[in-house]
Amino acid sequence: MAHEPPRLTISKLQRMKRSGDKIAMLTAYDYTMAAILDAAGVDVLLVGDSLAMVVQGHETTLPVSVRDMVYHAEMVVRGSQRALVVVDLPFPHGQLGPRRTIQVAARMMKRSGCQAVKLEGGAQQAATIAALVDAGIPVIAHVGLRPQSIHALGGYRVQRDEEKLQADALAAQQAGAFCVLMECVPAPLAAQITKQLDVPTIGIGAGNACDGQVLVTHDLLGMTLGKRPRFARAFADVGRQIETAAKNYIAAVRTGEFPSTAEAFE
Ligand code: KIV
Repeated sequence: MAHEPPRLTISKLQRMKRSGDKIAMLTAYDYTMAAILDAAGVDVLLVGDSLAMVVQGHETTLPVSVRDMVYHAEMVVRGSQRALVVVDLPFPHGQLGPRRTIQVAARMMKRSGCQAVKLEGGAQQAATIAALVDAGIPVIAHVGLRPQSIHALGGYRVQRDEEKLQADALAAQQAGAFCVLMECVPAPLAAQITKQLDVPTIGIGAGNACDGQVLVTHDLLGMTLGKRPRFARAFADVGRQIETAAKNYIAAVRTGEFPSTAEAFE
């Protein structure tokens, strides 16, 4: 029986932190993109609830359902071979207390085949994180700007409450989270927390001292509709290329230039 190459493990991520090898994480929501990003060598693929915004067109991450998350996670697992696949617990399923959160997280893992879940919160979520970990479900804790709490936080802005951020990150580690993701945190504070923690930190808008970075792949590719956040560097201009390709196709169809005889059958 042919064995698939093993996926990156949580212990490998811990070793990367110790050796100073940076962790590269990107979001993915479908088979083809997962396969391309996996082949490029990305370490962690996140089926983020950002899919509510960039795939489904909602204003916030709140509307996406467990069923939607599983649907997309299945495709990402099928498309990837090497990366660790992590799936977001969608609102409000990470906040329903240990028992109900375990039920949802276990269902998501069983149906999609993902290897871990991500949940928003730190100190307040410590009991839930501990219960998930006890149940054999690896957890990434997402602290700082928590998009599922956007209405409570009052907007997408940098989180500067140093005491709270430190308490959240430490509580998440103590509860057993294998990684702490920090969103929109001042770089010096993220650096300090990264030093304090034994588990790896992943930053988004948190400076370059974190143990790794994550971006929403639509931002990475230059496919952001509307205002791109300051931290979301576009590494390509795929949005414009798609538009140009579509315009060229439309013109070729309208003039009859496409398909050519070489693209047709005798
Ligand atoms: O849902 C998502 O894509 C995320 C990233 C912004 C980290 O949580």
